[in-house]
Amino acid sequence: MPLTVLDHPLIEHKLTELRDRQTGVAKFRDIVREISMLICYEATKKLPMQDAVVNTPVAEARCRTLTGKKIALVPILRAGLGMVDGVLNLLPFAKVAHIGLYRDPEALKPVAYYYKLPPDIDERECFILDPMLATGGTASAAAKYLRNAGVKKISLLTIIAAPPGIEKFFDEHPDVGLYTCAVDESLNEHGYIVPGLGDAGDRIFGT
Ligand code: URA
Repeated sequence: MPLTVLDHPLIEHKLTELRDRQTGVAKFRDIVREISMLICYEATKKLPMQDAVVNTPVAEARCRTLTGKKIALVPILRAGLGMVDGVLNLLPFAKVAHIGLYRDPEALKPVAYYYKLPPDIDERECFILDPMLATGGTASAAAKYLRNAGVKKISLLTIIAAPPGIEKFFDEHPDVGLYTCAVDESLNEHGYIVPGLGDAGDRIFGT
C-alpha cells in the first residue's frame, strides 16, 4: 500500500503541539501551515523534472527544473483549508480546487455540498488536503470525484490517520499515495480519532 508515515523530529515535535489541548487558535493554525509544508516536501518527491541550463555569476550550470507545474491542491472544506497556505508556499503555481464534504454526525457518512474545480483538472496532478483521515469516507468520496473528473494522479495529504480510514481509503483507492504524520490507535463512537487532536476545523477556525 502506498502509505508514507513521515518520521521526522520536526514533525513529531509540531504534532505534539497540535495535539495539546492548551494550544490556542493562532498557534494551531501556524503549526498546521508549517507541518503542511513538511508533508508537501515529502509528497512531491517524485514530481517530474526536466534538464535546464542556467548561467550562475561564475559559469554555466546544468541543472533540473520541475516539468509542467500542472498541479491542483484540493482542500476538503473546511479543515483542509488550513493546509492550503503551507502547501502553496512550496507550490505557488498550483491551482486550488475546492470540495465541500461534511460528515453526517449520525450516519458518519460524507455529504457533498460544494465542488469547484479548475477546467483543466484532468491534466493536473492533484493533492487532496484533509488533516484528519478518520473513517476515510470524505477523503474517499473526494478521490472518487476527482477520478470521475478524469484526474490520473492523486495523493492524499493528512496530518493524522486512523487505521479504519486507511483501510477504507486503500480499499477504494489502492493507487493513491497517502501521506500522514501519524497513525493513531482508533476512532471513538463519534468518529473522532483517538487520541487525535480533536476537531481540526474547530481548532483552525476557533469555532
Ligand atoms: N475530523 C476531525 O477534525 N477530527 C477527528 O478526530 C476526526 C475527524
